[in-house]
This record gives sequence, structure tokens and C-alpha cells, in this order.
Amino acid sequence: MAQIKKAIIPAAGLGTRFLPATKTVPKEMLTLVDAPIICYVVEEAVQAGIEDIILIAGRGKHAIEDFFDTSYELEDRLAKDGKLDLLERIIKIRNQANIISIRQKQALGLGHAILAGLPVIGSDPFAVLLGDEITMGFHNEPNVTKQLADSFAQTNYSTVSIMNVPENQVRKYGIAEVEEGASSPFRVKSFIEKPDPGTTKSRWALPGRYVFSNKIMSILKEAKPTLHGEIQLTDSMNVLCHNDAVFARTFTAKRFDAGDKLGYLEANIELALNRPELRSEFAKYLIELAQQLKVNN
Ligand code: G1P
Repeated sequence: MAQIKKAIIPAAGLGTRFLPATKTVPKEMLTLVDAPIICYVVEEAVQAGIEDIILIAGRGKHAIEDFFDTSYELEDRLAKDGKLDLLERIIKIRNQANIISIRQKQALGLGHAILAGLPVIGSDPFAVLLGDEITMGFHNEPNVTKQLADSFAQTNYSTVSIMNVPENQVRKYGIAEVEEGASSPFRVKSFIEKPDPGTTKSRWALPGRYVFSNKIMSILKEAKPTLHGEIQLTDSMNVLCHNDAVFARTFTAKRFDAGDKLGYLEANIELALNRPELRSEFAKYLIELAQQLKVNN
């Protein structure tokens, strides 16, 4: 059984959808309740059994590296003040995995960012979690990355998550065309990056969770820029599903694009409602607000 122990988290984007906040703060460091977005992504990877996390970072992303590093002064202060719960949480965050940071020297696209992880990935299979996508699962089921890793362990084939989107959203995502008449996990026939509406019948979009066999790396090495002059990961996945096989799985967890304003706000609300210390008062506030909105509209 091939276990997935390594993951790449690309976090090199400029975050233009969140300007001006992201002028000085990387979008992955924007706060969801009380922790940065990237913290939730790393926790998902760790809960899926991943030990080595390769952050592909661009310029100005030191804050992400510092977040997973030791902060002696802070830890000393929390210990002296007896704030042991907080201290424990801070130590757990920094100790949960080996965080290895690699610079993507040019922003040449997602495929290029993944290939930048090759020196650490070597010949191993690996997961990819996009650094601004959050998933929120149910307590009694394995998270989205764990489900992909389990599929890989059984089949040795690359497996990616898919979700159903309406037709007018198709052009925002990588799209998987899958074998018809089957059920999840589907075998993928082709992948297309952000197709124009009408050019595909498929509504299966890629939400940013993948597990790859190492074969994807040799394909990425040969990949050329296409859409927007970038090396698209989806193009290499398309080659992989023809040369080898790729499977696509649906999932039941909620997924938020926290790199988008609306998705970010929704994620904040849902995560806050999940916190025992906030839940009842926050829910009361939301109910009152919803009533006011109803009256005013
Ligand atoms: C990237 C991928 C795309 C995927 C999407 C998920 O696009 O290229 O295939 O569906 O993430 O959010 P981006 O949103 O970076 O343009």
C-alpha cells in the first residue's frame, strides 16, 4: 500500500482578488476566526497522514514561514502568564509536520509551482492542496485529502476531487470529463482548464485537492505554457489520464474558496458556528440579522 506522506501547498499567488489587504499580507495568512487560512489547509493534510509539507511560496511570503516556526518570545510569555491552552495550540501548530519552503522564482502557473516541489518530492507520490481552499467535513468521516490518499493506497492511480458546478461557473475551474454511466470514483477521460461555456457538457469542477502518482512530475517537466501564458497543471493531468489513468471522486464536505471575498466570508461564518465558545451567541446574532434583512427587503 503506497501511503501519501508528502504534500505540496502552492501559495505563491499575488492575491489580487483581496487587494488592498494582500498588498502586505499574503492571502493565505488572512484570518478565519482566529487562525490563518493556510493553518486549516495544513491541518487537513496532517489529518490525512501527511508528514512533509512543501510550501511553494513567492516573494513576500515570509509571514507564512514564520507562522509555522518557533516564536521563543511569544511562547515564553504565554508560559509565564500561565496561558497554557494557547501555548499548547501554538506548539502543536509548529510541530504537526515538517514544513519545507521552496521559492517559486517566477509566477509561471500552477503546473510550474508543483514542479518546483520536485527536489523534496523525489520519486514519491504526493498530495496537492491549494492554499486558499478550505474544506469542512463531518466529524465521523475522513477529510477530503484522506479520502484521496486512501483511494491512491488501494489503486496506485492518481485521484482528484471533483464537485458539481452550474454551467455558468464552468469557466472558473479545471473541468473533468468522466466516463458516463459510472459512479464516483469516475475514470477521467479528459481535463480542460477553464473551458468556454458550451465547449464541454461536463459540470465536474476541480476544487483544488489532488493526489498524484509521481508520473505527473515527468509530464510537468515537458509541459509548455498554454492558457494565460501559464504552465497549467490541468494540461499535464490531461496527458496523465491518457498515458496512465486518473480517477475523480466526489465528496460530501463543504468547500469554500477562501481566496474569493464571498467564499471567505462564508467560511468565516461556518467556522465560527463550529466553535463551541462562539456558536450560541453568534447564531443568535445571525438569526436577528436575518430577521432584520427580511424586514428591510
Ligand atoms: C486553479 C486551477 C483550476 C482549479 C482551481 C480551483 O485555478 O488551475 O483547475 O479548478 O484552481 O480553485 P485558479 O483558481 O488558480 O485560477
